[in-house]
Amino acid sequence: MSNYNIKHIEEYYQLYRKSVNEPELFWEEIAEEHFLWQKKWDKVLSWDFRKPEIKWFEGAKLNITENCLDRHLINKGDKTAILFEPNNPTEEAVHITYNELHERVCKMANVLKDRGLNKGDRVCLYLPMIPELVISMLACARIGVVHSVVFAGFSSLALATRINDSECKMVVTSDGSYRGSKTIDLKGIVDVALKECSCVKDVLVVNRVGSEIKMIPGRDHWLEPLMSKASSVCTAEIMDAEDPLFILYTSGSTGKPKGMLHTIAGYMVYVAYTFKNVFQYKENDIYWCSADIGWITGHSYITYGPLANGATSVLFEGVPSYPGYGRFWEVIQKHKVTQFYTAPTAIRALAREDVSYVEKYDLSSLKVLGTVGEPINEEAWHWYDDCIGKNKSPIVDTFFQTETGGIMLTPIPYITPTKPTYATLPFIGVQPALMDEKGNELIGNQVEGRLCIKYPWPSIARTIWGDHERYKATYFSAFDNKYFTGDGALRDEVGYYRITGRVDDVIIVSGHNLGTAPIEDVINEHPDVAESAIVGYPHHIKGNALYSYITLKSINRDQNIVRKEINQLITERIGPISKLEKIQFTNGLPKTRSGKIMRRILRKIAHNESNDLGDISTLLNPEVVEDIIGNKLV
Ligand code: WTA
Repeated sequence: MSNYNIKHIEEYYQLYRKSVNEPELFWEEIAEEHFLWQKKWDKVLSWDFRKPEIKWFEGAKLNITENCLDRHLINKGDKTAILFEPNNPTEEAVHITYNELHERVCKMANVLKDRGLNKGDRVCLYLPMIPELVISMLACARIGVVHSVVFAGFSSLALATRINDSECKMVVTSDGSYRGSKTIDLKGIVDVALKECSCVKDVLVVNRVGSEIKMIPGRDHWLEPLMSKASSVCTAEIMDAEDPLFILYTSGSTGKPKGMLHTIAGYMVYVAYTFKNVFQYKENDIYWCSADIGWITGHSYITYGPLANGATSVLFEGVPSYPGYGRFWEVIQKHKVTQFYTAPTAIRALAREDVSYVEKYDLSSLKVLGTVGEPINEEAWHWYDDCIGKNKSPIVDTFFQTETGGIMLTPIPYITPTKPTYATLPFIGVQPALMDEKGNELIGNQVEGRLCIKYPWPSIARTIWGDHERYKATYFSAFDNKYFTGDGALRDEVGYYRITGRVDDVIIVSGHNLGTAPIEDVINEHPDVAESAIVGYPHHIKGNALYSYITLKSINRDQNIVRKEINQLITERIGPISKLEKIQFTNGLPKTRSGKIMRRILRKIAHNESNDLGDISTLLNPEVVEDIIGNKLV
């Protein structure tokens, strides 16, 4: 018998040992007892990190929506599955029961089928945080269509790149989206994007804001009339365990975004099992993750993990600051939220506001607090613990990645003693290793190195869409026979892990992964720019912010205007999340003799560590360094 819900620390250690010593037996028992299969697997795991190739539950047949919906209908049909809290608090919250969600998913799946979509086709979902987003994801999964959710803050160009990369046949969007006091013209962004996307045949449009939009005959269709005509019966397509479930793009340190491909069975088992334990979810709990479904956290811990457990998952359309800084706490009070999962950047932003915003609300329903997406600093951790959790709700600092699908390092609340800023222990089945730069594993405690994982876990991404070589090069080549996260970490005297930050050219700003290269490419498109380099530097709210060093071709123009134009260009090409916080114009960038920009030096300068640059005499142009230090922006 497997133990699906860990209750004591001894049990954690016991299960952890089993998951390492007999991983196949361990996962087989979990899979067998807690999920619905049309056919069981022939083989639990086959893997080779050198190829790399990873397969879980090969030979099994299932549909993830039967696990997330159908099997709950007998006992929990009237239970709220999705609790939708709109952007504007004057609009009523909507409780969507498992019965209703099942019906709407089936109808939407029939709409997709009627438009000619088949198993294996890709559909891009560019939607706000509204029920139709969850419904569309599940409708795709119902018929074996692969969804690619694109965060609705991305620009039309970024959207077009993602649509074309996976050759989506359809886009599902809305007439607009509410974000705080603003209304954003999502359909307009899609229209511009689609000028570049010949693969898209149909656009389904949800009526959310009721704005006047242009519908292109033959291509654009309002969703609502199609749904009302559609049948609510839709047999789930029987899928193979390793069939694709979704593609989700994440930025890389170079070039175009990486479409991480997740497959069905392993992903389902791992996100469901982590959800149950990391949040200690109990039957009548009201769980709320405030992340956007455009990111992996939303996929795994708003949609699939909670629904596979028959949970109630809050879906929040709004922002933490609208109509006031008490919005999160108001929602917790209103719905008696028991688990609240958010990003450190939101915590830092809200901690700056007057504590009266918190004190107005009754937060006594809370049992577990979570953070994800970036390191949480000590001050923010304590504020969260004191002001929100009142020192009675353990904080789970959960480390994971788009690539890992589910949570990798985390305390288990009420079981693992927490330590501020530490993600503490590996989750069951996760075998971390810290490596030195020479490729040796650091053994024992009190060591710091690069974080790798030595053994497959069920929800690891299987490839990068269309580019398996890049998948291999990015994750499996730095260290032999290991998955490399790209993060640094330390292990303290008791074996707890703390993530120290990225060791590659990815910068985490407000919890968003930003690769430096794609942003530099955009900067370099500005006609006045000769070259540029971006580094991260510590920022009190965002965690990190972007500091850019830019060499201009001519300096005749007003520098502030050029700064504005560059940020405008970035907003248009990628989206506002990638805007530069600081733009320093330089006479040149420090380079090696082979012409490579020395980001290490630029990073130190941005971090105010210019007295610790080491030997710069071997640079091609050491003279520019003095100049850059002298003109550093504060
Ligand atoms: C960072 C987000 C410190 C890390 C789920 C990782 C974290 C990247 C934590 C992945 C954490 C995520 N503490 N850093 N608890 N969680 N990160 O793909 O650098 O958007 O590699 O997935 O976020 O970001 P992604």
